[in-house]
Amino acid sequence: MKRIAVLTSGGDAPGMNAAIRAVVRQAISEGMEVFGIYDGYAGMVAGEIYPLDAASVGDIISRSGTFLHSARYPEFAQLEGQLKGIEQLKKHGIEGVVVIGGDGSYHGAMRLTEHGFPAIGLPGTIDNDIVGTDFTIGFDTAVTTAMDAIDKIRDTSSSHRRTFVVEVMGRNAGDIALWAGIATGADEIIIPEEGFKMEDIVASIKAGYEHGKKHNIIVLAEGVMSAAEFGQKLKEAGDTSDLRVTELGHIQRGGSPTARDRVLASRMGAHAVKLLKQGIGGVAVGIRNEKMVENPILGTAEEGALFSLTAEGKIIVNNPHKADLELSALNKSLS
Ligand code: ADP
Ligand code: F6P
Repeated sequence: MKRIAVLTSGGDAPGMNAAIRAVVRQAISEGMEVFGIYDGYAGMVAGEIYPLDAASVGDIISRSGTFLHSARYPEFAQLEGQLKGIEQLKKHGIEGVVVIGGDGSYHGAMRLTEHGFPAIGLPGTIDNDIVGTDFTIGFDTAVTTAMDAIDKIRDTSSSHRRTFVVEVMGRNAGDIALWAGIATGADEIIIPEEGFKMEDIVASIKAGYEHGKKHNIIVLAEGVMSAAEFGQKLKEAGDTSDLRVTELGHIQRGGSPTARDRVLASRMGAHAVKLLKQGIGGVAVGIRNEKMVENPILGTAEEGALFSLTAEGKIIVNNPHKADLELSALNKSLS
């Protein structure tokens, strides 16, 4: 391939800029031309497609957000939007596209693949909920941000012997809660992947204070319920401790990316370009046991494909992401 493009889509994630930079610089060093598509799939359909050079991605590696901007564009789930997008890419002479985004963005990349347009998916989301990779770009930074915030909450909660429910992001996945919870020595980690009994938590908070604990930190994944709702249910179940709730929210999506996210993004961006250079599209790049890997975006579960399609065109997600429940068991023995 001689001319490729890159876009970011869905919720932004720290390290997306580093990934764009890697795509652009690797493409240039492979002798390819590279275009930036602004505003995700919305920009693809609208033809917001402009050439990038090495200088256009200078000074962005240390910044979160995405300089190509991102957009939620539900119209891309319709065939008409997908065909219009491909038409725009072809009009600009683009032969392959790198899509950096989360689960929804991968569905878009799957449709491009289905229509025969070479797309490569890079996992850019703080949620770590993408199939085919151990880690996503942005997860490490989000966990670090949550950890720093919870450390601060612990300082004040100790002074007042308080219980805190801290809600972290992750959509339907408990990964951020598990990692931030272990990293901060949380008393409880509550995730959507596991059941829990409110009465058990009430009992454990009470027992903790009776044994001389100075605070109680409960890290709650947003996929379970909101911190406010959880706090109310705790009270209804009989908790008598001095309780506060905190929702960390979008601070988890910002801040300078960690070294780990910058390196991951750089490796994945460069790897995607090397694949396109060889004419390989229709795959999602991941990291497994510290090595770059790729899986087909569309195909059969046996081939390791992320998605299959039924005869009616319905999407089947093969081997959906699962949070590492060993981390939950670990926290139960350490807390
Ligand atoms: P994320 O990629 O972070 O999961 P979204 O779920 O909002 O974020 O998806 C990002 C974009 O991907 C959507 O706004 C839409 O343009 C595209 N997209 C999502 N689902 C589909 C789908 N089923 N088919 C095609 N495109 C999709
Ligand atoms: O997918 C990333 C994420 O930050 C989730 O953790 C969260 O549920 C969602 O996006 C928030 O979306 P928005 O930025 O649209 O409020």
